[in-house]
Amino acid sequence: MFFAVRRSVDKGSTWSPMSFILDDGPRVDGLNLGVVVVDEEAQSVILVYTVCFHHYKCSPSSVMMVESQDDGLSWSRPRNLSKQLGVKSFAPGPGFGIQKRHAPHQGRLVVCGHGTLQGDGVFCILSDDHGKTWRNGAALKSVPYNQPKQALDFNPDECQPVELSDGSILVNVRNQNKYHCSCRMVVRSLDGGETLPVEELFFDKNLIDPAVAAGMLEKEGRLYFTNPAHPQKRVNLTLRWSLTNGKSWEKEMLQLWPGPSGYSCMTTLNSNATEDRKFIFILYERGQQDSVETVVFAKVHIYGGL
Ligand SMILES: *[C@@H]1O[C@H](CO)[C@@H](O)[C@H](O)[C@H]1NC(C)=O
Ligand SMILES: *[C@@H]1O[C@H](CO)[C@@H](O)[C@H](O)[C@H]1NC(C)=O
Ligand SMILES: *[C@@H]1O[C@H](CO)[C@@H](O)[C@H](O)[C@H]1NC(C)=O
Repeated sequence: MFFAVRRSVDKGSTWSPMSFILDDGPRVDGLNLGVVVVDEEAQSVILVYTVCFHHYKCSPSSVMMVESQDDGLSWSRPRNLSKQLGVKSFAPGPGFGIQKRHAPHQGRLVVCGHGTLQGDGVFCILSDDHGKTWRNGAALKSVPYNQPKQALDFNPDECQPVELSDGSILVNVRNQNKYHCSCRMVVRSLDGGETLPVEELFFDKNLIDPAVAAGMLEKEGRLYFTNPAHPQKRVNLTLRWSLTNGKSWEKEMLQLWPGPSGYSCMTTLNSNATEDRKFIFILYERGQQDSVETVVFAKVHIYGGL
């Protein structure tokens, strides 16, 4: 498998040809899920990813990192973070990690992901020195932990964190075994990713979900959410928005694609330029017969204009 990169220097209108950050050839359980985290203070782009996650003809599973100091043109050699974190299966994201903009722990890098299928759950790793050292932070473990799961067990899986303006971190989580509902789990960290207390966990029945990696983004006090909005099937890629930090969702929504559609992730340009305040960007899997036929990049005017 490989990690590819395409760059745009004109706000997503045109893209460079594909280049490869890493390529491990035909290894079946090689490079796997990753998270991109932008360290704005250090002006670096970090990719944290996993190898040998499924222990299929390889072991142990490791968490790795590469870094770019030139906006993705060139990348460092891989570093093995399992030396600091301990050896366990941890698949970051997929999606993005965050750098805390507000207290507590302003400047911290927070990368959340999930464990192996049996010992699953949401786990976050933290760095307070721009990615030089990492340690284990919050854990929201599955129940029963590290044991075979049944349908409807509590099994938090792939996730996307965002920081809210009060400095808390909201994590939107794939509800793998549909515990409680065919909908998203949401959990909040009040201490910069050290803990994900069950008191801060809820099930958002408005966010119907087939169990998939979904997108979440915060921009200027609004929260955006993308997923294939269907209780069983990966179809109907829908953008929703909330003016109440996810406590409620606006009735209006935008259907991006009615047919097969899967994983999604969002981003935006955070300058005060009028142009940059108007748009969010959505990357998602979509197809005619199967959701993984293509990857689509959509630019959405969040105030409904052109
Ligand atoms: C990463 O480090 C761990 C702990 O030292 C080791 O067990 C593992 O084999 C290393 N992984 C890779 C890919 O080098
Ligand atoms: C798509 O998802 C939205 C949000 O859940 C829902 O209101 C709408 O009915 C769905 N459309 C289809 C065709 O399933
Ligand atoms: C945008 O404007 C606000 C308020 O004037 C300011 O605090 C912030 O630093 C600006 N952000 C950027 C990226 O220029």
